[in-house]
Amino acid sequence: MRKRLLILVCILVVAALAVPIINMIAGKPSGTALVTQLAEDPEMARLAALFEAKCAHCHVPGTPSPFYAKLPVASTVIAKDIDGGLRNMDLVAELRPGENARVSEPALAKIEREVTLGHMPPATYLAAHWTSSLTAAEKAEIREWIAKSRARHHAWAGMPEELRTALIPPLPEALPVDPKKAELGRKLYHDKRLSGDDTVSCASCHDLAKGGTDQEKVSDGVRGQKGGINAPTTFNAAFQFTQFWDGRAATLEAQAGGPPTNPIEMDSNWPQIVSKLEADAAFAQEFKATYPEGLSEKTITDAIASFERTLLTPHSRFDKYLAGDAQALEANEKRGYKLFLDTGCATCHSGVLLGGGSFERMGRHLDYFRDRGGPVTDADKGRISVSKSEKDLHKFKVPTLRNVAKTFPYFHDGSTPELQEAVRVMAKYQNGKTFTPDEYAAVVAFLHSLTGEYQGKPL
Ligand code: HEC
Ligand code: HEC
Ligand code: HEC
Repeated sequence: MRKRLLILVCILVVAALAVPIINMIAGKPSGTALVTQLAEDPEMARLAALFEAKCAHCHVPGTPSPFYAKLPVASTVIAKDIDGGLRNMDLVAELRPGENARVSEPALAKIEREVTLGHMPPATYLAAHWTSSLTAAEKAEIREWIAKSRARHHAWAGMPEELRTALIPPLPEALPVDPKKAELGRKLYHDKRLSGDDTVSCASCHDLAKGGTDQEKVSDGVRGQKGGINAPTTFNAAFQFTQFWDGRAATLEAQAGGPPTNPIEMDSNWPQIVSKLEADAAFAQEFKATYPEGLSEKTITDAIASFERTLLTPHSRFDKYLAGDAQALEANEKRGYKLFLDTGCATCHSGVLLGGGSFERMGRHLDYFRDRGGPVTDADKGRISVSKSEKDLHKFKVPTLRNVAKTFPYFHDGSTPELQEAVRVMAKYQNGKTFTPDEYAAVVAFLHSLTGEYQGKPL
């Protein structure tokens, strides 16, 4: 009897050991798209090999699963991990973002967070893959790559070396622009002749006295028509990786071409705009002095984009704190910043804008749209409208949190007038977290410290 039990125990032990031992010998993924696509990039090749060996099963599409993944129980656990892994981090897409592009700051922030907390690879995976945890040397290598990538993102003139590798650096004082073009752009930005009936300018919806927004749920276009989505701020938009909630304009120039001919917003057309402006001899002459080719969609949008590159709001108290002035924030604001970091808000709200660097699903943990109620509109679809890819449903460009105290109401649907409520929604739907009342107050206090100065005056 005891002998039989012993044999049974032995069989179970051997079975339990077989999986990790076989995994040790033959269980590492190889030849995935991660390594083949990054092989020609010397800087990325080593890192790709590291991520392939330890992360590919759940973060590289098409990686074959281990032999036992088809067994009952194992199959459900493994399918869930792969699904969750791919949904939140497709390493091939993130590390290979196209010619001359850089790995996004949110991707760097997410990898840094998971590596620092030691959450990846997950413990269940490590139970069957004994040699897959990251070694101290590998973690150091990943951190070094993250620092180097950040320094490339933050390589603005005048940015001190030690701030370039930061998760969130202070806003630069200025970007390179031609001041004459910017001055023409300033005039055009405020010029109602860009609209069909001379009633609406860019500034109508992006008022520099209202944080670069109209502080309305949705905007009023020509003839009192209502738009379908909340107007984001033009302040600091120059730093965003793409423009619009769904990223349909790659640059400020391309963006500025949109509103004038949009039937709801300004309802004009370029021949009409050019002829109205040419009829203004003084302006047309001033314009030609800087743009000899004269007024056209191309030169008008170029001038407006130049102006937008001057719409920066440096010198917030938060920036002074980042630059080394420990007194610039009060204790409660510092506590709010710490909560912001510890909760993981900065995985999406990272970089110089605390946002503006990636598309993210609204409702990472819970279904925001079901709970909000009301019809799901075209505006609610987000990035899928451009990419036509199912995985982009309800993904939006993460808004900047710079000057967020002034850019109410919040979210693409303008559904939320109060900043504290916006923080509650974010914590719940993006981080699966509930703060205590004084924690909410601290985070909100921190967000208020992000208000900067435009032309030397607080916004
Ligand atoms: C067994 C599958 C598995 C492996 C192996 C694995 N991950 Fe993950 N990973 C997941 C799952 C599941 C999630 C989603 C967790 C969640 O929803 O919070 C995830 C999420 C992530 C995220 C996104 C976090 C966020 O904020 O959205 C990153 C970054 C990440 N993993 C990095 C790694 C790295 C780096 C490795 C290798 C060292 C690795 N993972 C290995 C399953 C895995
Ligand atoms: C009638 C209101 C209205 C007018 C007029 C208007 N905008 Fe906008 N603007 C919006 C709305 C609404 C959005 C968001 C649309 C979207 O993402 O689909 C937006 C988006 C933007 C963005 C992108 C910001 C971001 O974070 O993605 C910029 C930049 C911008 N507008 C600049 C301009 C300029 C320059 C003009 C004048 C040529 C202008 N707008 C005219 C309402 C307006
Ligand atoms: C998974 C990515 C992600 C995380 C994590 C995240 N956010 Fe957001 N945040 C977004 C996206 C996407 C939006 C825009 C959603 C929309 O408009 O529907 C947003 C919008 C906001 C807004 C509204 C800004 C505006 O101008 O409309 C605030 C405020 C905000 N987030 C704060 C936070 C705070 C505080 C945390 C942490 C508790 C946090 N976010 C965590 C992605 C994220």
